[in-house]
Order: sequence, then structure tokens, then C-alpha cells
Amino acid sequence: MTTTALPPAAQPGALMAAEIAEQPAAWRRLLVDGPAAGLDRAAALIRERAPRMVLLVARGTSDHAALYAKYLVEIEHGLPAGLVSPSTMTAYGARPDLRDVLMIGVSQSGGSPDLVRSLEVGRAQGALTVAVTNNAESAFAATAHAHVDVLAGPERAVAATKSYTSQLLALHLLLDRVRGGTGGAAAALPDLGEALLARDGEVAELAKRYRFAQRMLTTGRGYSYPTAREAALKLMETAYVSAQGFSGADLLHGPLALVEPQVPVLAVVADGIGGRAMEPVLAQLAERRADVFCVGTPAAVAGAAAGFTLPSGVPGELSPLLEILPFQMLARHVTVDRGGDPDAPRGLRKVTETL
Ligand code: F6R
Repeated sequence: MTTTALPPAAQPGALMAAEIAEQPAAWRRLLVDGPAAGLDRAAALIRERAPRMVLLVARGTSDHAALYAKYLVEIEHGLPAGLVSPSTMTAYGARPDLRDVLMIGVSQSGGSPDLVRSLEVGRAQGALTVAVTNNAESAFAATAHAHVDVLAGPERAVAATKSYTSQLLALHLLLDRVRGGTGGAAAALPDLGEALLARDGEVAELAKRYRFAQRMLTTGRGYSYPTAREAALKLMETAYVSAQGFSGADLLHGPLALVEPQVPVLAVVADGIGGRAMEPVLAQLAERRADVFCVGTPAAVAGAAAGFTLPSGVPGELSPLLEILPFQMLARHVTVDRGGDPDAPRGLRKVTETL
């Protein structure tokens, strides 16, 4: 297998490139050390409390990991799940009755006061609280009944990459354990991730198409919807592309009007139910002669203007770990091609503190 040539440390995007490349190793760590990272304890507590509903609280990239968990809970566990608006409990002072609720907080840094406060309020209002973070020493981790360390290692690039996919994996492993699973289905992911990352040169070529794009739309359905949202965020914060992510269904409910040949549409069409649900969306995009970049199955990529083929046979609920990799690489290359530095997005810091 070829390995990705990393840019030298002083080059723009060197930190982001290094952290993108580290992802399979980070996943291996979590797969091996997961029990010590708190997965077993958190899963046991959840089983014991048998919650009737799951609420997720997070911001930014972590919110996309939370959205992924929402799909897992609704589909695999048959429980209602929702994303919390932290301001209802922080700014507005709402104190909902959260008995029988599992509240899962997701944060790379564990450093945003509104997220810590949401877990505090959740706990005081009767919820079982679990913090999923990359910072075991944070107040966020300490506030919850149980803490799961995603074991991604220190993340220095402002744009979150490895912490995101490690959060996805941690959430998958946690929820799988709650159902009595052992995470076996995820064992193949690190090798698949390595093979995919070795195709960085392919993405570098594709990125040239988007060097001058000012606006983009991203879309996917089901488990791939969080990928679409996260791809848009990566492009916004690094390349300053005005990118908006929609579920394929929501795209048809209005934003489709934005589609014109100058606005590339980045579509995720993976194997499985979510990918199949994209068929009518792709048909509508074709009718509008949209410039579609597809990350997905060979058939979907063949029908698009450009694309990146995903390995076949990956279960839909695990595909998001792989799907996001080409978009992370794309955001880095587009940014560097435009003369920017993905490691130094203007006006952003690694930890954002909101109230
Ligand atoms: C984007 C990014 C941010 C963070 C967000 C939440 O790449 O890193 O969107 O995800 O600021 O931060 P955490 O996860 O530390 O609570």
C-alpha cells in the first residue's frame, strides 16, 4: 500500500494533514483500549437505568457526531432521541423534567461553559449523564455520571478531524455495548481507513475543480447526513467556501432552488438505505444539470461529474467514519490551492467558549 506523503511541518495545513493521517491509528487505540476509556462502565450504567429517551448536547463538529448518535439511537435502539439547544438551559434558565432520560454530551475539548452547564442541569434534573470527550481532565468529563475518553490524542489543528471520527467510533461502540455487542463490526475500519487515506493524490486532483468555488451545497441522508453537515463545516472554516449541508430530503423542500451549475453539490451516496434514499435527490440534481461531486458507491460516482469511490460492504452505520475522510482531504487541498492555511483559519481558536 502507498502511504500519504505528508507536507513538511512548516507547510500550510501540515497539522491538519498529520491529524487526518492519524485517524486509523486513533481508531485502533479506541478499539483496543475502549474498556479502559470508560465504554464498559458507561454502557453498564445506561443498561441499568434503561432510559426511555436520549438527548444529545454538543456544538460544531461534535454536534455532527451527536447527530450521528441520534440516528443510531433511533434506528438501532428504537428510542426517541433529540439534540438539545443549550441556550434553553443556560440563557433561558429552563429546567425540564429529565427523569428517565439519558443525556450524552459530546465535546473534543470539554471546554465550552454552555456544554458543562447543560450536563450539570441535566444531572440535577434527573438525567443519567455521559460525557464523550477527548479531554478526560475537563470539567465536562467530571460533571457527568460517566465519562468516555475518545482517545484521539492531542488535536492541534483548529479544524477537528481525528477527534470527530474518534467521537463517531466511541458513540458507536458505546451504543453497541448497551445492546450487548462487542464492537466487532468496527474492527475492519482502521485498515479500510488507511487504504482510503492513501488515495490523497486522487483528492488533490479533484480539489483543482473547486479552487474557485464560492458556494457549495452538501447533502446526504440517514447516517450520511452528519457527514454532509461536517463536510460543509470543514469547507467553511478552512477554505471559506459558503457551504451549506442539507439532508437529501430537506434539500428537496426548498434549498434545491439554490442549485445551478456554478454551485457544486457534494453528495454522499454510500451503500445501504441512506444511499438508496438519495436516488430521487440525484435525479432532481441531474435535471438541474448540477455539478455533482459524489462520495459513495461506484454506480453513484459513475453518474456524477466527479467523485471518490468508497469501499463496498461497509455497514451503513459505520460508513460515516470513512465517508468524511475524502471531504477532510478535499477541504485541506482546496484551502492550500487557494493560497490559504487550513491550520490558521481567520478568527478561530482551537477551543470556542460559548455561554
Ligand atoms: C470545527 C471545530 C468546532 C468544534 C466546536 C465544539 O472543526 O472544531 O466546530 O467542534 O467548537 O468544540 P468542542 O467539541 O471542543 O466542544
